[in-house]
Amino acid sequence: MSRQHLLLRELGLAPRWRLRHGVAPEPVLTPVLAPVAANLVPAAAPVVPAVAAPVVVPAVAAVPAPAVVEAAATALPEWAALQQQVASCTACGLCQTRTQAVFGKGNPRARIMLVGEAPGAEEDKQGLPFVGKAGQLLDNMLAAIGLSQDDVFIANVLKCRPPGNRNPAVDEMAACADYLRWQIAHVQPEVLVTLGRFAAHALLQSDAAIGALRRETHQYQGIPLFVTFHPAYLLRSPGEKAKAWQDLLAIRRALAKKA
Ligand code: URA
Repeated sequence: MSRQHLLLRELGLAPRWRLRHGVAPEPVLTPVLAPVAANLVPAAAPVVPAVAAPVVVPAVAAVPAPAVVEAAATALPEWAALQQQVASCTACGLCQTRTQAVFGKGNPRARIMLVGEAPGAEEDKQGLPFVGKAGQLLDNMLAAIGLSQDDVFIANVLKCRPPGNRNPAVDEMAACADYLRWQIAHVQPEVLVTLGRFAAHALLQSDAAIGALRRETHQYQGIPLFVTFHPAYLLRSPGEKAKAWQDLLAIRRALAKKA
């Protein structure tokens, strides 16, 4: 049995399953990405667009002016400086409860960037996003469309774990917003994918339901943005995997069109 078939079967998306659920077959998984440089640090400072007015920050009353928000008017920090800034950030109360900030992982020159919600317990321990069970499912979903971790860059809306894995608070999202905006400006992905409602709402400034948002391709500063379910939600609601598979196929088509 091929690796691809095994992955699809693990996702509940093996061909027979697809037939039974009326999901169109997708027999050939051609690689859509050019080989990725082994060195995950950009060779040269990327050309980045001027930092525009914040688009991520939700409208919040009485948010204290943390350093990162004030810095919005300044130039985009270099990648290493940005990593340093995130590591030592004290812009919101989460700095008091985190083990460490979680910057992101993958290839900073990737064609596709995925955005999750916030680190969980395991991510807080390891300092990397999506290393728990949801991360394993995410890896399998990416593999099912021919993508490895080196083909993507993965970050979260919040860089620090909310205690007890509670939902991100509005002021925490506001305090962290520029970090994500700057990461996107550095990576300059061809395609953005939000995982779950917090990432979708943060980047699209919409509070519409995922079910509605995932049906269309959005734009974030000129970059096509796809909304799909959070892998943790898919673990709780495996019946939604067929829809997630449709989202993955749309993402793969978008990448193939740009190749
Ligand atoms: N869920 C997220 O949204 N991000 C992670 O890094 C892990 C779980």
